[in-house]
Amino acid sequence: MPWVIRDVVNDINKAVARRWQGLDPLLPEPSDLSEGCMAPLLALGDNGRPAGLGVCRHQSVSADTLAQTWGTATKFVLSVRLRGPDVQAAVDSLLTQWRDHLDKQPDAKDDDTSAIVNWPARDITGVLALLRHGLQPMTVIAVRPARRPTASPASPASPASPASPASPASPASPASPAAGTGNTSKKSRASKQPGLVIRPAGPADLDRVAELEMGVVRYDANFGGSIPRPATEALVRAETQAALAKRPGWTWLAEQGGQPVALTVVEPPTAATWVASMTRPGATAYLQTMYVRPGDRSTGVGAALVRHVHSELDARGINLTLLHYSQVNPLSAPFWHRMGYRPLWSTWEARPAITLR
Ligand SMILES: CC(C)(COP(=O)(O)OP(=O)(O)OC[C@H]1O[C@@H](n2cnc3c(N)ncnc32)[C@H](O)[C@@H]1OP(=O)(O)O)[C@@H](O)C(=O)NCCC(=O)NCCS
Repeated sequence: MPWVIRDVVNDINKAVARRWQGLDPLLPEPSDLSEGCMAPLLALGDNGRPAGLGVCRHQSVSADTLAQTWGTATKFVLSVRLRGPDVQAAVDSLLTQWRDHLDKQPDAKDDDTSAIVNWPARDITGVLALLRHGLQPMTVIAVRPARRPTASPASPASPASPASPASPASPASPASPAAGTGNTSKKSRASKQPGLVIRPAGPADLDRVAELEMGVVRYDANFGGSIPRPATEALVRAETQAALAKRPGWTWLAEQGGQPVALTVVEPPTAATWVASMTRPGATAYLQTMYVRPGDRSTGVGAALVRHVHSELDARGINLTLLHYSQVNPLSAPFWHRMGYRPLWSTWEARPAITLR
């Protein structure tokens, strides 16, 4: 990057750092902007000074990775840095320039492409510009700060080691205030799960875990969150096998009568580095998978499993847990909010990329 542009980037990044901290204390320091496919797009303010810039990157996602199941095969990602306070005009200018750039990319017309902008969820200025340019809010990165025992007397802070044995769960008592009000109808629904057992999964559980993992892929496909591919099932199985072998104690099964009914998989901080930079520094885990079989939903199984996992994560010193959910998944957003998560980033997409306007 030429030094003049480098100065502009540094200057804007300083302003963005202050702005992001004012918006949301869990946003990270803005990272340095690496090289894009061309010189950064620049938006000038009324005073003629740079008000924002955007760097476009073209990503081709390999068919032999699961990343192609969780998004389009080709991605055009615009990283934006906006000085504020009102960023609407700057976003509008950057997106107009970006659309002109994408118009010239022959592969942006392909079906399996997307134009993507990651946006701080609490930055409400500029949202109208994103909508006006045809972007849709597809997914949310949500965050949960650890609950230390003193912070929430109602949470079950039962420290458990990664090798903790199976434990009987008590979904009937909404242990976390976020999980339910404890009224009679909820208690009777929960009593359908008296024999729920939660235990860490191991290599011998490969079939059970891989099948539940595929349940999430199929469910999320309804919202475009996942795009099942010919290789998806084999890749899910291979990654599950590797994770169960490499990271014992980070996958949990809930069972009823010996049958698996729900699954939670977490990436420990060592594996979650790819997403950890989306929040403040600290021990950050990524909750990769949450799935309850259709016939067992809405009875408190999911809440019981997640409460168990949270108590383990808290005991292991995890500061922040991140996860993705599809914006229009009618089950996941309310569930995660009850379980203590809130939006940190939203991902806006136009599919195919050429539909950015
Ligand atoms: C999202 C999901 C994991 C939630 O699991 P769940 O077991 O249905 O969740 P819970 O039963 O704990 O909570 C859901 C409902 O039960 C109620 N509930 C929660 N705790 C309860 C308790 N102790 N007693 C009685 N009811 C309870 C909740 O109020 C909620 O009510 P609702 O059905 O009216 O919304 C599950 O719906 C699912 O697997 N969905 C498909 C896959 C998916 O979306 N995964 C997440 C991807 S990010």
